[in-house]
Amino acid sequence: MTQSLGDLAVDGRVVIVRSDLNVPLSTDPGGRVSITDDGRIVASVPTLANLTGRGARVVVLAHLGRPKGQPVAGLSLEPVARRLGELLGAPVAFVDAVSGPDVESAVAAAKPGSVTLLQNTRFDPRETSKDPAERRALASEWARWSDAYVSDGFGVVHREQASVTDIARLLPHAAGFLVESEIASFSRVLSDPVRPYIVVMGGSKVSDKLAVIGHLLDKVDCLLIGGGMAFTFLRAEGFEVGESLLEEDMIPTVRQLMDDARDRGVDIVLPVDVVIAQEIADDAQAQVVSIGEISPGWKGLDIGPATVDMFASRLADARTIVWNGPMGVFECAPFASGTHDVAQAIAQSSAFTVVGGGDSAAAIRLLGIDETRFDHISTGGGASLELLEGRTLPGLAVLEEA
Ligand code: 3PG
Repeated sequence: MTQSLGDLAVDGRVVIVRSDLNVPLSTDPGGRVSITDDGRIVASVPTLANLTGRGARVVVLAHLGRPKGQPVAGLSLEPVARRLGELLGAPVAFVDAVSGPDVESAVAAAKPGSVTLLQNTRFDPRETSKDPAERRALASEWARWSDAYVSDGFGVVHREQASVTDIARLLPHAAGFLVESEIASFSRVLSDPVRPYIVVMGGSKVSDKLAVIGHLLDKVDCLLIGGGMAFTFLRAEGFEVGESLLEEDMIPTVRQLMDDARDRGVDIVLPVDVVIAQEIADDAQAQVVSIGEISPGWKGLDIGPATVDMFASRLADARTIVWNGPMGVFECAPFASGTHDVAQAIAQSSAFTVVGGGDSAAAIRLLGIDETRFDHISTGGGASLELLEGRTLPGLAVLEEA
């Protein structure tokens, strides 16, 4: 049974919180680093605020990017510590070390109600080591000076890593508010969905999504498919797709999937028109054509308006909607409408709506859609996909251990 935050005694104690603060950064020509989307930092605040309010001495563990076990200047968490301090309304002490004497003296000096953020855990090769003994050695160093562990980094619960699983085995532990709310939303769409239940899938690679579609076929009434992955489905149906994204080797699997869907009475709805261009650029000459009219040398980069209308009318009747993956290259103006309009149709729906993390969550923010209109926007990309695939995630399973 996973414990909740309130079950832990924290007053005056050192509590390690694993957060997912893996946010996109950009560096200007003067070398100044800025955070381009602070959604994950914002989402980590309620748990931290609860703990500091209860007098805990909070130490946050987090990663940034994939530095492969050594320090990388551009992947320091220092700018994140500043932003976290602004959001918490109190400075966050940053320690430029993952473990060792600097960390130990910072923890010893930490006052009740304070937050300390340690350097990127992935600067230490033991964090992501395949050898459990190495990971455990790092986790033991942290456990030596701490009293409890809170798992709140939903975006990493699919990882077997020192700060996610090994540390939880060494300390009294609980799920933070973010992890709890992510689990609650995904449980609702995976185990007890109100019907009609529609899943909107997009993104570039069909191979990334096959396991999700396979697992959801038993549960959903209808799958709407857009994004680059739609072209492998369209090709499997016999359409020419020009230079559009295509995973030729996946065509037999996709055909099988469409047969399975038909047998189970699940509708798979594919685009009927697409926005095509010869290049991905803000000033690209784009055209709308029907499926089957993509000329050689042109590629489909967004769903077209007739497809948007068709998807929107399906979504209007839904009572449960899961959306994972953009409908086109939304970062580029000529190909953003499909993602924008489908997101808007989901936002306007009265269904219970869950948005898988990663690109779909980024699209909502970039396209200026009101985030409060969705019931749940996940902070996890890979983690949310693995949950939708029906897999047991190690970072969640470990929380159920005593
Ligand atoms: C994410 O960005 O999905 C999480 O922070 C996990 O990052 P990872 O895929 O590098 O483990």
